Amino acid sequence: MTDFDRAQLLRSVLYVPCDRPRAVSKSETLAADAVIFDLEDAVAPGAKAEARETVRTHFSAFPASEKVRVIRINALSTPWGTEDLLAARAAVPDAILVPKVDDVADVLAVTDALNETDAPKTMRLWAMIETPRGVLNAPAIADLAGRPDARLDCLVVGTNDLAKEAGMAGATARQHLHPLLMQIVLAAKAGGIAILDGVFNDHLDQAGFAAECRQGAEMGFDGKTLIHPSQIAPANAAFAPAAEEIERAERLVAAFASEDNAGKGVITFEGSMAELLHLKQAERLLARAAAAARRERSESP
Ligand code: COA
Ligand code: MG
Repeated sequence: MTDFDRAQLLRSVLYVPCDRPRAVSKSETLAADAVIFDLEDAVAPGAKAEARETVRTHFSAFPASEKVRVIRINALSTPWGTEDLLAARAAVPDAILVPKVDDVADVLAVTDALNETDAPKTMRLWAMIETPRGVLNAPAIADLAGRPDARLDCLVVGTNDLAKEAGMAGATARQHLHPLLMQIVLAAKAGGIAILDGVFNDHLDQAGFAAECRQGAEMGFDGKTLIHPSQIAPANAAFAPAAEEIERAERLVAAFASEDNAGKGVITFEGSMAELLHLKQAERLLARAAAAARRERSESP
């Protein structure tokens, strides 16, 4: 996979609890764009050491992968954090996901630890925004992306923790989370990094899941974090541009390229105004569509 594909495609990002070796090895066969090998909240305290060992074994067996592979460690302030970090560093995933990031210092502590071990610069950091303080500090955290030594590439929203920490409960929690989610999306866009939506807990409710994916895509998320393999295909579909969107973008690009519109910054396109920013948006959409098509070709037998 090229760096370009990685940057473009994070539609489906599956959490795999590392105390389930069968799920860990199965993850390589699934069509998720990315996998998060979880050592944190999906693993009970008594199973942490065993989960770490499973990750080690898995990365030794599969030193390379078509997927973006991420290891979620426990926070450095917990009894497991340091050992998780060392195990993750040794496995050399594409990124380490830092949980419960409250502020810039929580990210930089992991950055420093990685830099001290001379970890390759290709090993990146992702940060979970899932505490009230993390949401309030999201703009500063996302701005770390402007510092190449900080390694930060992506924010991941932890909706379950956030709803709990913010004191929201019940079926309507997502509705109340909306203003917070939009703040995080905005922070990620301002920092120029990827942003992933939280999980949908009821993996048997396919219609509810599809609706939440569509909503996440409309809100500006690049993709959704997932808990079950059955959620991969619908997420891939929801976060890839639709056929009509692709056709419209192609027409818009062609309109700007036409002789009549040569050198123009604003044109009339199908009855509406289109500016250069719309051209850029269309080009980005076509790049994502091309990456999705390439991924599908590489996965079809
Ligand atoms: N990653 C990889 N494989 C998974 C998986 C996952 N997250 N969830 C389920 N599977 C696999 C199972 O191993 C099983 O494979 P098999 O038939 O080859 O044995 C198959 O998919 C069907 O699983 P199913 O029986 O439907 O699910 P379950 O009842 O075993 O597990 C959950 C349901 C929700 C407990 C499980 O999906 C899970 O642990 N998800 C991740 C939770 C998590 O990481 N949370 C933390 C972040 S929010
Ligand atoms: Mg969490």
